[in-house]
This record gives sequence, structure tokens and C-alpha cells, in this order.
Amino acid sequence: MARRTTTGKPAFEPVVIGEPSLGAALVASLEAAAPVDRGTHGFHTYPAGLHPDAAQGILAALPGDSVLDPFCGGGTVLVEALLAGRRAVGRDVSPVALRVAGARTSVLPAEVVSRFRAQGRAITELAKESKDLPSPTILGSVEGWYSEHVLRELEGLRRGIAATEGPVRPLLEAVFSSILVKTSWRKSDTSAQREKHDRPSETTAILFHKKVRDLGRKLDALREAVPAQTPAADVRAADARNVRVEPVDLVLTSPPYPSTYDYVPLQHLRLIWLGEGHALDAGGLDEIGARRYWRAGARMARKRWVEDTRLWTRSASANLRPGGSLVILIGDGLSPAGTVDTSEATEEAGKQAGLALVARASVERMDHARERARWEHAFAFRKG
Ligand SMILES: C[S@@+](CC[C@H](N)C(=O)[O-])C[C@H]1O[C@@H](n2cnc3c(N)ncnc32)[C@H](O)[C@@H]1O
Repeated sequence: MARRTTTGKPAFEPVVIGEPSLGAALVASLEAAAPVDRGTHGFHTYPAGLHPDAAQGILAALPGDSVLDPFCGGGTVLVEALLAGRRAVGRDVSPVALRVAGARTSVLPAEVVSRFRAQGRAITELAKESKDLPSPTILGSVEGWYSEHVLRELEGLRRGIAATEGPVRPLLEAVFSSILVKTSWRKSDTSAQREKHDRPSETTAILFHKKVRDLGRKLDALREAVPAQTPAADVRAADARNVRVEPVDLVLTSPPYPSTYDYVPLQHLRLIWLGEGHALDAGGLDEIGARRYWRAGARMARKRWVEDTRLWTRSASANLRPGGSLVILIGDGLSPAGTVDTSEATEEAGKQAGLALVARASVERMDHARERARWEHAFAFRKG
């Protein structure tokens, strides 16, 4: 395989097969990179989040009234589905994903968003004065990751949110989640390296308030942009290998790339603070393609990933109406044992699920975290 040029430009041209207009939409989705400020995009980081323009372009190329994303993550596809006036259905196994996607797809009356802002402001003021450390259950797991005054402010925020009832509470929880890594000594969402830094007191509570205002502004923008009569998004926990929903005319998703992330464990701080530590106890067993499986043995991990790909593709196909489409965006895995090709198994899984491949595109892109180029693929299948 050719190397990348030193400028980071692709060494290969995109490869496109099948219906030309759909193929062009797939290439555009793989190459999307421009900054976006629409709806609730940009609120809360999420590892390997899809680019909003990628989802928007595919929704435009495959019109219809409903969309399912069985690996919804932070909810990018669902937000774009709502903006296009479509019924949006999302599933994921990660409690963090469900909170983020749930908040980002909340189309709420202005009065509820105002209450959210007011409650966020009140909780911020209380948290600035907070004297209590978290309970031993939380403290035992997060102690080494925050300075003491940050722990007290976070505990003040947590208690204020726990005492809040009604539709405002999940929004406050999503805001709380959005600051838990930035205020910690964790290097980033995707790196568990510890980098100690000083945070002046009160700035944790102030950051929370800043994020409340940011989400409030985005929720107003979402309400204004979502066409009237669009059904409320349906976001719930489920394993993508076993999803049952009212049939949709498009499944659009970006499943985990093999050997790339351990989605559940890398959210450990958030899961503990949000009272979802049990997801860690279970070891995130339901996760597909997790990097830790490759550390335990590349051959078995690949076999398991191929089988999981077959199972979730079959489930996605079962939820499609006749004539409906399944679009999958996935990159090759960069495992310790070498590249894990995803194109062959994905194409085969579609065929085994009774779907016809109508277009396919592949683009070579740089993975800056791993300083290696990888192929990313987009597949469009149709149900006969
Ligand atoms: C690449 S991310 C999706 C990102 C999403 N497209 C976005 O824009 O935020 C993959 C997601 O798959 C989820 N996942 C892993 N195994 C799963 C399973 N068995 N069933 C459902 N979701 C799963 C992970 O929790 C993660 O949120």
C-alpha cells in the first residue's frame, strides 16, 4: 500500500463502485471535515463521532421518513434526521452515549429550556460554596483524578442535579457529563494518561454554567430548525445485534472500528459520577470490536468481530422496510497486530443479510492519534 505524502494528502484517489450519484454522496460523506454549527452539534465530545455533514449528505441522497442508528453514540445521525424532519431512532450500549444523544435530540418548548437555564444557574451558585466530598463509592474510584476543591465543586453539582426533577434533569446530567474529563487530570477522552494541572477554585462550577448556556442556545436552535410534526427522537439502550423497532426506510450508522476504542471503559470517570459504574463491573461485555479483545489475541478478536458484524447487519436488515437502505461508514482497524480490513466482512455481512450492494466508496485518511493512514469505507445496501 502506498504511503501518505508528508503534507498528509491522500496517496490514493477515492475508490467508488456502483450507482454514481450515491457513490459521490458516499465519498463526500467520508471526506466531510468543515466546522459545523447547527442544531446541537458540538455539544459534548464523543469518541469517533460522525461528521454532521456526512450524515446530512446521506440523508439527502436517500430521502424517506425514518432513520435508525443502532450505534448512535453521541447522536449525530439522530440530530441530522430530526433536522430533516424524519423519525429518529437510536440505540447504543453505553449509558454515556444514551445521555448525550438523549440531550442532543431533545426538541423542547422554550419554557423548558428557560427552566433548564435557571436551574443550571442556581446549581452553579450552590456548587461554588460546596464543602462536601463525594460518597466513598464515588470517591474511591475518582479520587486520583481531580484536585480536592474540584471534587467538592463536582459533588455540589451532582447533588444539585440529583435534587432536580422533570425534563430538565437529563439535560443537566448531560452538561455535568460534558465537564467531567476536562476538569480531571485525564489527558483527553481517548487517552487515560494523567496530566496534573491546576484549576482555580470556582472555575469548575463556572465551566458547568458556561456549558448550560451553550446547550441552551443549541436547544433553541434545534427547536427552531426541526420541522413541525417531526416525531420525538426515540433513544434507548439496546445491543445492535438484537434491535426491534417499527420498520424504518434507512439505517445509517458508523459501528465501532475494530481494535480502535474501548468505548465503555474509556468513559470510566463519567460512568462513576453518573451512577452507572455497574456498566464497568460488567466489563462492557456487549461492546463490539473493542481494542482490549485484540490485546487478548488478534485471531480470536477478528473472528468475533466478523461474527458480530454479521449479527448486527442481519438485525439492521430485519428493521428495514422493503426498498429501504442500509448505509455503513467504517474504517479499517489499526490493531497492535496490523491492519484489520473491514471492507470484505462488511460486504459479505450485507449479502448474507439478504441486501444488495448498490454503491461503495473507500477513501484513505490519516489517523492523527496513531500517525498512520487508514482506509475508511462507506457501503450502501438496498433491501429488495
Ligand atoms: C463509532 S461510535 C458511534 C459514533 C456515532 N456515530 C457518533 O456520531 O457519535 C460506536 C458506538 O457503538 C457503541 N457500541 C459498541 N458495541 C455496541 C453494541 N453491541 N450495541 C450497540 N452499540 C454498541 C459504542 O458505545 C459507541 O457509542
